[in-house]
Parts: sequence; structure tokens; C-alpha cells
Amino acid sequence: MTLTELGQSVAEQFQNVYSCAPKWVAAAPGRVNVIGEHTDYNDGFVFPMAIDRYTVIAAAPSSSKANRIQLRSTIGGAPANIALDAPFHPEKKGSWVNYPLGVIAGFHARGLNPGPFDALIHSTVPLGGGLSSSAALEVSTATLLETIVGKKLDPVEKALLSQKAEHDYAGMPCGIMDQFISVMAKKDHILLLDCRSHKTELVPMTDPSIELLIINTNVKHELTGGEYAKRRSECEAGARALGLSSLRDADAETLERARSKMSETVYRRAKHVIGEIERTLHAAEGVRASNWPTVGQLMYASHASLRDDYEVSCPELDAVVDIAQSIGPKGGVFGCRMTGGGFGGCTVALGQADKVAAISERITAEYEKRTKIKPTLFVSRPAAGATVLKQ
Ligand code: GLA
Repeated sequence: MTLTELGQSVAEQFQNVYSCAPKWVAAAPGRVNVIGEHTDYNDGFVFPMAIDRYTVIAAAPSSSKANRIQLRSTIGGAPANIALDAPFHPEKKGSWVNYPLGVIAGFHARGLNPGPFDALIHSTVPLGGGLSSSAALEVSTATLLETIVGKKLDPVEKALLSQKAEHDYAGMPCGIMDQFISVMAKKDHILLLDCRSHKTELVPMTDPSIELLIINTNVKHELTGGEYAKRRSECEAGARALGLSSLRDADAETLERARSKMSETVYRRAKHVIGEIERTLHAAEGVRASNWPTVGQLMYASHASLRDDYEVSCPELDAVVDIAQSIGPKGGVFGCRMTGGGFGGCTVALGQADKVAAISERITAEYEKRTKIKPTLFVSRPAAGATVLKQ
């Protein structure tokens, strides 16, 4: 289904729910991070691309007299009503409403009031699979609100507003990668983002002989929230021990010299971040040069570092990477790594397009044999960022 068709289907569902056609429809994609994991909140580099999986929001001016926004999801459940004549407060932790609510609050804080409306949200981004379903929800909401209020935010401001929604309303102290890529992605490009300066470079990824295969382990270990914040503070401790404002300014030698000034854990976290920033820049060079074996090796190295030093992998992610590695270049696989925050979710593999079907079959069979879990696999070309489908 194309994005236009998806938009039409959500518009039809809106009509069924609210008995009128939507006036506005907006969409924002999920993402897969090719490399550069846990570097964004260390002022480092990341290298994500948008995938052709989207969160779509259809909306129309409110049919009720109440001064409120009504949000419904196609997943079902009770509608969420957001009062517009009272201060905004986060809903209870874990509620999906917090993501759009935080974005609506961010618009209000800028004096941008969309007024009462009814909305229906639908997503094809797997939820909680490490493909940024939350950023897609925030950014699609922001895109919808821009359309309603008739003012386009600067893309950096839009991404930061969405990130703030996640911090303040969803209680997740995420970095900037997911919201930036969902806003700024361009079809057939991977985004090299400097998380310190916010400078971006769109690196073309058009080689038809290469495919990125996303493999969802379909496990989600419930550690993520607390562990993520813990990694952030360990990185800050590492930077402090080095006398730096962030690990971005450190190199391997500086770290070795200062090893005795920090705990072994903090040392290993810093080692990952410093190495990963370098790997990300090398991988971008590799993509520019279509040097797929090198990009693949960097992906494996990234995974090993996330598993051993950063300790955010899990047996299921390791199993997929191990299977990919055993298929190897002869079988068409150049590289594979976990992607996103970790502790479950997805891996991303770089493979030969003409062998992707065979690779998928082998990974599925072997993964199921080892873990007794069925994985979900799909390929995606780099997709475009947030867009308005109807206004
Ligand atoms: C999550 C966060 C991102 C980033 C990744 C790890 O996806 O939302 O900001 O930190 O984890 O790279």
C-alpha cells in the first residue's frame, strides 16, 4: 500500500468513526538506525533512515460544543479527551495519549492553539519494536497541528518540540535522533546527523543491488526505561571523569589514559560511545563509496560493542546477528546489528537484493528454531519524512 492509499484508508476509517470526512490528514514515518547507537545524547553522530511505515492522523474541526480535542486510535480503546481550557498535565505513565498531548502542549506554549478538533490515529510502525513508533506519533501530531494552525515550524524546532513531548509527557529521556529523522528524512537517502551542531548531510542510498532488511525479534524486555536513563548518566559520569562536557570530545587514547579515574562500567560505556562515533563516520564514507563489505563489518563491530561494552543487547538480538553472520557474504549478507535503544526490538541487516528472499527464509527458520519465537521481517528503501496528505 502506498502512503497515499494509506492516507485514503485512514480517511475512510475517520468517516466511519466520526460520520464526516476529515479536513486534514498528516503522516510521519518510523525509522531504522543504520549505525550510531546511543551516540545522540553524547553529542555524537547518528546515521538513520526513515522506513515506509507511518503513523497517520486524520482530523476535522470538533463536532461537539466542548472545548476539547478528541483522539481515537484504530487500535481501539476509549477515546482520549484533552481539555483546552485547563492546564495540560501528563496522563498516567505508559499511556499513548502522552505523545500527542505533549506535542499539543508544546504548540500551546508557543501560542499556537489549534482549537477543538476530532482525530483518528492509525499506525503501520510496529509498536514498541525499536522503530520509533513514538517519534512517528509525535511528529505526525506536530505536522497535523502545523496544518491546522497554518504555521510551519522550523524543522529543527519541530523535532526538538517533539523530543520535549517525549521527555516531559512520556517520561523517556530520549536523544534527538528519532524525531529528527522522522521530520527530515528524504526518499533514497540516509541522514548523517551531527547531534551537537544539528548539521545534517543526506547521503544517497540508491544502489538497487543492496537492500536493508529489518528483522523484528518480537521480544521486548521490560528493562528499557530505567536502563536507558542509567546509560545516559554513566556516559555523563565518563565525560566528567575526562573533564569534558560530553564524550563527543574524547578519543580512545584519552580514555585509556584516564581509565583509573572511572569505574570499569563507566569505562566500557565510554569506550562504546567513542568507538561508535568513529564507526558512524566511517560507515557514512562507506555508503558514499558503495563499499558494502566495509559498512557491513562496521555494523557487526557496532553490535559487538553494544552487546559487550554497552550491554543493551539481549539473547534474541544476538541470535539474529549470529545467524546473519553465519550466512555471511557468500549468502548475500554484509552486516547486521541491533538497532534502536536495545533490550529487544529489531536488528537491521545489509544484504544483496537478489538474495534477500533466501536470507529472510534462513533467518526466520533458524531464529525460530533457536528461540521458539516467530520473527517478523521486511525490507525498506529509505523513505521520505513527515508529510501532509490532505489540507
Ligand atoms: C532510542 C532513543 C534515541 C537513541 C536510541 C539509541 O531510540 O529514542 O534517541 O538514543 O535509543 O541510539
